[in-house]
Amino acid sequence: MADLRKGTCRLVVLISGRGSNMQTIVHTIAQESLSAQVCAVISNRADAAGLEWARTQGIETRALPHTDYATRQDFDQALAESIDAYQPDYILLAGFMRVLTPTFVKHYEGRLLNIHPSLLPSFPGLHSHQQALTMGIQWHGCTVHFVTAQLDHGPIVAQGVVPIIHGDTPEDLAARLLSVEHKVYAQVVQWLAEGRVSINEHGTVEVEGIATRAFLPDGAPAVVSTAGEKE
Ligand code: GRF
Repeated sequence: MADLRKGTCRLVVLISGRGSNMQTIVHTIAQESLSAQVCAVISNRADAAGLEWARTQGIETRALPHTDYATRQDFDQALAESIDAYQPDYILLAGFMRVLTPTFVKHYEGRLLNIHPSLLPSFPGLHSHQQALTMGIQWHGCTVHFVTAQLDHGPIVAQGVVPIIHGDTPEDLAARLLSVEHKVYAQVVQWLAEGRVSINEHGTVEVEGIATRAFLPDGAPAVVSTAGEKE
């Protein structure tokens, strides 16, 4: 867990594409005057649209095409060197479409987070919206979690839900979920910046003073009271 007593929470965001979650994080830091800073946005794809957007915001960017590296280990080592140059407190995966090696994950233990478009532990991996439709579940969602060596697995920080509507396509579902993803990830960044997030001895997450980390389809928390406050 990062020690934020020093001041501003330094973030490096990894993307592979449009970067709408990253954009929301950048906007939220500014709008809410959070004690946090996106120091760099790094992509494994040089043509990721989010890189261009980050540049327009004056954020440092780095393209590190994985195709330039012979092995997964070589790429992850170069990626870690790029990240560590910014001395981040947390590394946020936001639509970063690469499986990371256990060595990389271990290096950032307790500081590496991801957003996955399903209610984990259901539907890890690709095509989570199609998986949800195939199973016939009626609520779908997103999960922000700490990253472990197991793909789309690890201590859950927050989840948001959306209903599935008859006739939905995977694209309909992805679009409906995206706005909830933005709210959930932005809220988690706020908690990180405030130094509230920890992993307890059972390996689950606690967020100091927060009763619920479940978010509704409009992005509102499912309960508004503070932990410990009983009516
Ligand atoms: C999001 O749906 C995220 O959950 C998934 O990839 C998508 C990335 O979107 N892993 P964006 O690049 O943040 O717009």
